[in-house]
Amino acid sequence: MRTLVGALALGLACSMAACSRTESPAPAAATPPIPAWEADNPITPLPDSPLGADIQLASLPNAPTPEQVRLGRWLFYDTRLSGDGSVSCATCHRPEHAFSEPTPHSTGIRGQAGGRKSPSFVNAAVTLYPNFFWDGRAQSLEEQALGPIANPIEMGATHESMVASIQKVGAYAPYFKQAFGSEEISKERVAQAIAAYEKTRMSGNSPVDRWRLNKDESAVPDQVKQGYELFFGKAACNQCHLGNNYTDSRFHNLGVGYDPRTKTFKDEGRSAISKDPADLGAFKTPTLRDVAKHAPYMHDGSVATLREVVELYDRGGEKNPNLDPKIKKLNLTPAEVDALVAFMEALSGEGYMDHAPKAFPQAERTGE
Ligand code: HEC
Ligand code: HEC
Repeated sequence: MRTLVGALALGLACSMAACSRTESPAPAAATPPIPAWEADNPITPLPDSPLGADIQLASLPNAPTPEQVRLGRWLFYDTRLSGDGSVSCATCHRPEHAFSEPTPHSTGIRGQAGGRKSPSFVNAAVTLYPNFFWDGRAQSLEEQALGPIANPIEMGATHESMVASIQKVGAYAPYFKQAFGSEEISKERVAQAIAAYEKTRMSGNSPVDRWRLNKDESAVPDQVKQGYELFFGKAACNQCHLGNNYTDSRFHNLGVGYDPRTKTFKDEGRSAISKDPADLGAFKTPTLRDVAKHAPYMHDGSVATLREVVELYDRGGEKNPNLDPKIKKLNLTPAEVDALVAFMEALSGEGYMDHAPKAFPQAERTGE
């Protein structure tokens, strides 16, 4: 306050004396130069949902702000969040693979292999029931984001060391202020910013959307239309892959990962969380949006192609005591198998694509 009054008085005195020179050089009128990392990751409005006017990000209960999304985009791609600076979220969730990856297992810090495939999270913001991870152990993207950071074989940091690493990058602080109102850096804010970015990764306007939603009959060939009929008819895939994102976000046992010799599952799946033995070997139904982008398939990446996925369903899954009763032999003809594959390939949409920012906030503070 005092400096403001002082500055006013000085200005007044000067104008009364009609001085032409000022005592000290006027503070450079030019605004500080925009740092490279800021130019490369500007604040942009929330994207329009490609899924239709009734599903808009801005109207979600926990809607992100554009400032949070910008901060989250840096954090998502920033390897400095990991224990040794080598792994970011995008190491295993790659934009060009619809934020999944093209390998059966994830490889985390120091080359350690995880036991599960990284799932795509496109359209997670508008999922029917918020269950995250293959076993549904997290209920929100915010809750989910803290998991991998402290997982010793994923990013291998602790929440405290991760917060400390970001604090060390002084230039991050102003963006926390922009996103959350103060410069405080906490694990909750990191999670919220990353979740904000993830929520903007929405996929739509696929050939199937253009046909079904926009009524453009020429958007897909007849084979895709036949696949659609099978998906919702004879093959009844929509018992579990339903709604806008082709998932019920519930848990089912298809027998993937069952060893008939030892009568055990490599991965117990949902039952480890629900403690219900009936959930042994059950995993969350994944979205089928952009599914063609991230073979191999299933929680363990054990099925190489979409054709082999359909063949698995055709033979009635892998027999085991907990097989979901909805999974039955389908008796599909080879042409029907092709049609289902063509249908799933036509679920590749647009709107979620991105790439890592070219530059990240660096250690110095700028633009105070
Ligand atoms: C080392 C690889 C790896 C890294 C790094 C990684 N993830 Fe994952 N992510 C996975 C795997 C594997 C799963 C599935 C794990 C499970 O179900 O138990 C997963 C699951 C998820 C899911 C749940 C998706 C769903 O539909 O259930 C989200 C969201 C996600 N990760 C976001 C992130 C974010 C955000 C980061 C960075 C903070 C991150 N991941 C870092 C491999 C990784
Ligand atoms: C009983 C529920 C159910 C039915 C019916 C069902 N699915 Fe699935 N689907 C799942 C579950 C659960 C998984 C993941 C299983 C796992 O990883 O162990 C899955 C996985 C998939 C995957 C792999 C996706 C990925 O990202 O790994 C594809 C593709 C798929 N299903 C397509 C189909 C098709 C095509 C049909 C119809 C022929 C069908 N599903 C019927 C529940 C179902």
